[in-house]
Amino acid sequence: MAEVDKPAVSQTENFSGKPRRRGCLGHCARFWWAYLIALAVIVVVVVPCVILVAVPKLAQQKVDEAQFEVDSIVVTNTKTQNLTMAINSVIRTDGSVHATIDAFQGVMYLEDIPSHTPFATLDFPQTTADAFQTVNVSQFLPITDVKALTVFNTWLLANESLRVTVSGDTHVHVRGISRAYPITFKKTLTLSGLNALNGLVVNQSSISLKPDAQGDNFFATVYVPNASPVTFELGNVSFHNYLFGQDIGTVYIDNVILKSGMNVYPLRANISQTPVVNALGQKDFCQGPNQGILPFVLSGKSVVNHGQSLPYFADALAAVNKSVSIDIGTPIKKLLGQSIPCSKNDTSS
Ligand SMILES: *[C@@H]1O[C@H](CO)[C@@H](O)[C@H](O)[C@H]1NC(C)=O
Ligand SMILES: *[C@@H]1O[C@H](CO)[C@@H](O)[C@H](O)[C@H]1NC(C)=O
Ligand SMILES: *[C@@H]1O[C@H](CO)[C@@H](O)[C@H](O)[C@H]1NC(C)=O
Ligand SMILES: *[C@@H]1O[C@H](CO)[C@@H](O)[C@H](O)[C@H]1NC(C)=O
Ligand SMILES: *[C@@H]1O[C@H](CO)[C@@H](O)[C@H](O)[C@H]1NC(C)=O
Ligand SMILES: *[C@@H]1O[C@H](CO)[C@@H](O)[C@H](O)[C@H]1NC(C)=O
Ligand SMILES: *[C@@H]1O[C@H](CO)[C@@H](O)[C@H](O)[C@H]1NC(C)=O
Ligand SMILES: *[C@@H]1O[C@H](CO)[C@@H](O)[C@H](O)[C@H]1NC(C)=O
Repeated sequence: MAEVDKPAVSQTENFSGKPRRRGCLGHCARFWWAYLIALAVIVVVVVPCVILVAVPKLAQQKVDEAQFEVDSIVVTNTKTQNLTMAINSVIRTDGSVHATIDAFQGVMYLEDIPSHTPFATLDFPQTTADAFQTVNVSQFLPITDVKALTVFNTWLLANESLRVTVSGDTHVHVRGISRAYPITFKKTLTLSGLNALNGLVVNQSSISLKPDAQGDNFFATVYVPNASPVTFELGNVSFHNYLFGQDIGTVYIDNVILKSGMNVYPLRANISQTPVVNALGQKDFCQGPNQGILPFVLSGKSVVNHGQSLPYFADALAAVNKSVSIDIGTPIKKLLGQSIPCSKNDTSS
């Protein structure tokens, strides 16, 4: 919408219309009062209109039109009450206005929850209206609203995408005008979420009859996809391990830094043997295509990073039950030299 821009420029040019005045002589002398009124109108009405209405409107419009993209968010030094958040972002404009936007405090909230309760407040640096510029922010963040942060983490974990709004009030300085204009920087971006960890795989599993020193009797490798641009320092994560709705043990993944992309970690677990052996004897799992492959469900139990419990991650992981099929038959066969036979009195259909 450059139309607002153009009249503003042409009016300022007319205002300094010296060449015309030189050529008018008698006409000008006689109608000097008319010129004076016209000049007064320009000075009193048009210039303030441009400076007080058109420029701020244009400035706000340019800020509204600018594109704001987040390349990455990195959450580290996670503690119970605080963390460090780094955001690398890019602002794109058409580059038509030479302006500077003051540093400001911006809140971040989920656009699709009507309360718009902020889960983070970040200090954004001064920026210019250049066509392309990177804005990298890294800062210590006290957790002022753990519930809002937990809801954000839950949405990020559960959804394929989610809309996040960054909003803050600031001032813009347009080149050549000393006045600073108040504007609102408000951008809603669509972030990719972790999509309920779709594609998570547990394989290369092994079993020991006797638990090791830590009490673990199951070991495997877990492949955790993170489709979001967010990296999290989680620390030591544990999960309830359900089999047909029964809690049969605890799964541990240690020292987790969940990066954007595919993550591979060793997994260990302390699992009751009886329900597993019974399940392997059932008709569905002692034969056929799913032989030895049991449908476990993982649900977040605790997240502890260097002794600090992180409920804003643990509660998010507890809100999502993750189904994962694990091949137990292969390591059992390796261990016992044979598969678990179908039980004779299997009552499952
Ligand atoms: C961050 O939070 C932890 C508790 O979770 C606290 O011990 C520490 O002092 C806090 N750090 C700062 C700088 O406030
Ligand atoms: C912001 O971070 C990106 C990615 O890490 C980097 O390429 C870029 O140089 C940084 N920009 C600034 C202004 O620090
Ligand atoms: C995102 O996930 C949350 C938690 O599962 C759910 O309540 C919400 O409806 C989802 N939002 C969108 C936009 O899909
Ligand atoms: C385990 O799963 C990952 C991810 O799907 C795959 O890349 C890898 O080849 C698998 N390893 C084995 C031994 O099956
Ligand atoms: C986990 O390990 C402890 C200690 O070895 C043991 O007492 C407990 O029964 C185990 N739990 C399961 C579900 O196997
Ligand atoms: C997850 O599954 C367990 C066992 O079936 C159940 O008790 C729990 O309520 C489920 N949690 C969610 C969030 O669905
Ligand atoms: C995870 O737990 C182990 C002990 O089981 C501990 O040595 C390690 O420091 C913990 N890691 C983190 C990040 O808290
Ligand atoms: C089969 O039935 C017997 C007795 O009826 C019982 O003791 C046993 O636990 C059952 N086995 C399985 C795998 O359910």
